[in-house]
Amino acid sequence: MPLVTSKEMFEKAYKGGYAIGAFNVNNMEIIQGITEAAKELQAPLILQVSSGARKYANHTYLTKLVEAAIIETGLPICLHLDHGDTFELCKSCIDGGFTSVMIDGSHYSFEDNIALTRQVVDYAHDHGVVVEGELGRLAGIEDAVNVSAEDASYTNPAQVQEFVERTGVDSLAIAIGTSHGAYKFKPGQKPQLRFDILAEVEKRLPGFPIVLHGASSVIPEFVETINKYGGNMPDAIGIPEDMLRKAASMAVCKINIDSDLRLAMTAAIRQYFAENPAHFDPRQYLKPARENIKRLVAHKITDVLGCEGKA
Ligand code: G3H
Ligand code: 13P
Ligand code: ZN
Repeated sequence: MPLVTSKEMFEKAYKGGYAIGAFNVNNMEIIQGITEAAKELQAPLILQVSSGARKYANHTYLTKLVEAAIIETGLPICLHLDHGDTFELCKSCIDGGFTSVMIDGSHYSFEDNIALTRQVVDYAHDHGVVVEGELGRLAGIEDAVNVSAEDASYTNPAQVQEFVERTGVDSLAIAIGTSHGAYKFKPGQKPQLRFDILAEVEKRLPGFPIVLHGASSVIPEFVETINKYGGNMPDAIGIPEDMLRKAASMAVCKINIDSDLRLAMTAAIRQYFAENPAHFDPRQYLKPARENIKRLVAHKITDVLGCEGKA
């Protein structure tokens, strides 16, 4: 099976009340851990590449690793550009075989966001590629952008219809209180998401797939392991899983997960070195890291996303 777009995945997910996991990939072990879990559970997958991942691992290496995963798993896999920030970057990924791109114009004015997004949609659709746009700004740190909590803003539901109609996007990322990274809420703060905004967006865009960024749960077990074995992470709080399940049962069809993968990998490697301080073969410590990623992704698929058996 060749790479697929997310079109059919989202149609089924919307109707079925579940979501597809969009996992960030940066190297072979991450791709293997994710795709091995998805194969065992027969889950559809979106593998997403940020511009930072592309700089780190190189476009060709990543696309060839994803092609290998398709051969090994036989799963429908969509290869997506995460947080594309320019037309040129989106074009390069479209020309280079991606089946989906995000153009993140959320830091521009409404009109400038529409103009940039429309430009990407025109090129992408001419090449059979789907596009995710973004309205509203999430807090947190991405490779190129650091948005403070004060500069973040919820999506205005009154703007979504016009944005989707004028840009032609295939899915829309919205800001309802999630944020990027491991520190989503302050210690003592009760995690809260604006489900009223999501419900209003759903009402204005019936049947249209919504995307949730910054959706890692920041699983306490991994943070505890990191700190037990020499790490020093301050209180890290993520999105509670029951909120993600609720979002998946609504219009959210794509749930983005990166930080949880990083924590799973780092926890396993820290533990490995603490227990085996004299070892130096990368295969020895990358193997438990890959296994931890597989365990995490299996948990997400079965207990959070609800996409088990939907491939
Ligand atoms: O939302 C951003 C993703 O977590 C990717 O992070 O830009 O550091 O690769 P990155
Ligand atoms: P997390 O940092 O919560 O994993 O979010 C990842 C993300 O939104 C990638 O685009
Ligand atoms: Zn994101």
